[in-house]
Amino acid sequence: MPTKTIRHQPIRIGVLGLRRGLTYARGASEALGLKLVALCDVQTDRLQALGRELGVATYEDYDRMLEHDLDAVVLANYFHQHAPFAIKALRAGKHVMSETAACFTMAEGVALVEAVEQSGCIYQFAENYPYMLQNLELSRRFRQGAVGEFVYGEAEYVHPGPADFWNEISPGVDHWRNWLPSTYYCTHTLAALMHITRTLPVKVNAFSLPYRADDPVFARRPVRNDACSMITVRMDNGGVCKLLQYFLRGHGNFVRVHGSRGLLENLRTGDPRMVRLVREQYHERPTTPVEQIYLPDWPREHAVAATAGHSGGDYFVNQHFASAIRAGRQPWLDVYRGVAMSLVGIQGWRSVLADSAPFEIPDFRKKAVRDRYRDDHWNPDPTVPAAAGETKPPCSLLGDIKPTKAQLAHARKIWRQ
Ligand SMILES: NC(=O)c1ccc[n+]([C@@H]2O[C@H](COP(=O)([O-])OP(=O)(O)OC[C@H]3O[C@@H](n4cnc5c(N)ncnc54)[C@H](O)[C@@H]3O)[C@@H](O)[C@H]2O)c1
Repeated sequence: MPTKTIRHQPIRIGVLGLRRGLTYARGASEALGLKLVALCDVQTDRLQALGRELGVATYEDYDRMLEHDLDAVVLANYFHQHAPFAIKALRAGKHVMSETAACFTMAEGVALVEAVEQSGCIYQFAENYPYMLQNLELSRRFRQGAVGEFVYGEAEYVHPGPADFWNEISPGVDHWRNWLPSTYYCTHTLAALMHITRTLPVKVNAFSLPYRADDPVFARRPVRNDACSMITVRMDNGGVCKLLQYFLRGHGNFVRVHGSRGLLENLRTGDPRMVRLVREQYHERPTTPVEQIYLPDWPREHAVAATAGHSGGDYFVNQHFASAIRAGRQPWLDVYRGVAMSLVGIQGWRSVLADSAPFEIPDFRKKAVRDRYRDDHWNPDPTVPAAAGETKPPCSLLGDIKPTKAQLAHARKIWRQ
């Protein structure tokens, strides 16, 4: 089906989920040709207050918002529930930008790819990390050929925090942040590496690190998952990536790419937006610098990108979404890449539970491959019963963890506030 375009009038968008979603609601600027027209959230007070502030229609029911006169939706609802909401919007003829993860099961990945193919609508996976200042620069230098072919990459998304910060943003025992298996939040790391190296994941081996019993944050959070995962990913050019995410101590985002001729990375110390390029002198003309360390600038739209969240990343995802709709061409962060990144989290968890054995990342661009996975509903969400004849996968390497009375009592105090 030909892709629908909107060339002249503003693209009217509705946003589902008003925590992260607020970034998109506020970022829907006239300069980008976007116009926010509707908001949706089940948290009535917040919804009404934001509706008044932004002067737009409000809905508690997503299906009702889809009936509003709008062109596109942004999905910032719960991590594990994006695919069914995206499919509904696509079937209603709306363009979709979806937060991570794109899908939570293999079967959802198949259904999402096919819904995009059948809809003629734009689908963009809302990964902002590739568009952070330093990652854009790494990508630009890599594509100029500064370090040759991709050999090995590492990316780290390390995001610790005090217990009550997490309790506040994870209200309820069943909130996804309290049980999400440690491999699933892997797209911030993987997306940056995929964007720089233009490779696709084909196989994973993953490792999970449970919380330490003496961790004071863990003692105050009713979690059933693990602190961190390390995933090794074989890419389609034969290169290998190592992804690390996310509850370790030592906050930071770090990307490193070894090419056949040199190294590109952002700095671990000082300003993380600084980029370092190392070229081995024996490959280069003697005048080429061996090492360059510098603060890059945004390739374009400096003023607006500089004020946006995630080092400009939050601006560029909106910008790419608007451009894709206007051009009638799927963006780089299309459904195939969004789903592939999300499958790394799913297959990574399978790997963890199989003693880190390798699992394939199937290529859902091919229907014959999709056919092998369309009935694969393997799902660790503890609120969803196991499929017939299957055992429910646990959310921790240690098995089914029950939150203690002390953890629950502490979290409930915060949730009541
Ligand atoms: N890219 C980034 O930098 C980044 C940062 C933060 C969060 N996220 C992503 O954003 C998403 C949302 O996370 P969050 O931090 O905003 O917290 P969250 O998941 O707690 O918030 C979801 C919001 O959606 C609303 N909601 C959920 N289901 C709904 C439904 N059926 N109808 C109406 N409203 C519904 C909830 O009431 C809540 O306000 C997640 O997928 C997360 O991974 C991305």
